[in-house]
Amino acid sequence: MKVLVTGAGGQLASDLADALASTLPPGADGGSAWHRRVKTMSPCDVMELREEDVDIVGRASVLQVFEALSPEVVIHAAAMTNVDGCEADPGRAFAVNGIGTRNIAEGARRCGAHVVYISTDYVFDGTSERPYVEWDRTNPLSVYGRSKLAGEFELDPGSSVVRTSWVCGARGSNFARSIKNAYEAGKPLKVVDDQRGSLTVTADLACLVAVLATDRLPGVFHVTNQDSGSWFDVARHVVAGCGGDPGIVEPIPTSALDPPRAAPRPANSVLENRALQALGMELLPPWQDGLSRLLEVLD
Ligand SMILES: NC(=O)c1ccc[n+]([C@@H]2O[C@H](COP(=O)([O-])OP(=O)(O)OC[C@H]3O[C@@H](n4cnc5c(N)ncnc54)[C@H](OP(=O)(O)O)[C@@H]3O)[C@@H](O)[C@H]2O)c1
Repeated sequence: MKVLVTGAGGQLASDLADALASTLPPGADGGSAWHRRVKTMSPCDVMELREEDVDIVGRASVLQVFEALSPEVVIHAAAMTNVDGCEADPGRAFAVNGIGTRNIAEGARRCGAHVVYISTDYVFDGTSERPYVEWDRTNPLSVYGRSKLAGEFELDPGSSVVRTSWVCGARGSNFARSIKNAYEAGKPLKVVDDQRGSLTVTADLACLVAVLATDRLPGVFHVTNQDSGSWFDVARHVVAGCGGDPGIVEPIPTSALDPPRAAPRPANSVLENRALQALGMELLPPWQDGLSRLLEVLD
């Protein structure tokens, strides 16, 4: 199967390329059902699209790529992911996340490829008292969230949308890496305790998405590592995993962040993986398990 992966320089897409080639990404120990599925599936012909090859905002160049490569499936992971940067430049955010996705959807339509779009917990406002299910009303607080939701609107019926949260992988900058670096540099660690979510490691997410994509399963799916916690909880786990005393991490409210962040974040980012459950599919392991494996491979 010919699979095109956009955003190939990114942390999730790098692990997707491994999983689609039937290779376990770094930090996947083969223990979960999804790791086992990846090891036994036929390797795909993976075509990786990087921003240096094509800026997805350009319609003509995106359509050219689809015509030249004619993929059967496209996993669209490219996005402007700098949440505060999106607030500063909404024009670019909507161009990349909205129009870019429109272009990918059109290219895929022209060659009959199935689209899997990677979306986000930030499409919700975080005011719910319970975890969000796939059919809950969206109401993004930030430009990033609104522009990613715009991308969802661009897809044809029958596409797949995978909403995930708090993504950390072995190959990229992310929260786990920042905390590890700060801990190793002996910096003070003050971390917000009033935003809850489910940290999701790319080694687990990529394997599930690779199977979902090659099976061409349509619809919206919430896909996260299980269990939830605050950023403070995650930071404590990172410090403990690095052999340190988690007691050195100090909890603070978002309002105490200095400097304050440009983009508002949902207080409740927890996504219930209801569609996977309803289909009887195995969920990803708890985030603590995924994070411990990630820390073993994080350089
Ligand atoms: N990170 C999270 O916590 C999180 C949470 C929920 C959902 N998601 C979603 O998951 C997906 C993958 O996230 P990630 O953390 O792996 O992101 P990432 O590491 O930032 O990778 C995104 C990739 O998109 C590429 N890109 C950006 N603008 C582009 C453009 N105009 N044309 C072509 N490529 C472009 C980037 O290339 P350059 O680096 O060369 O600019 C980068 O390689 C994204 O769709 C994101 O919205 C992420």
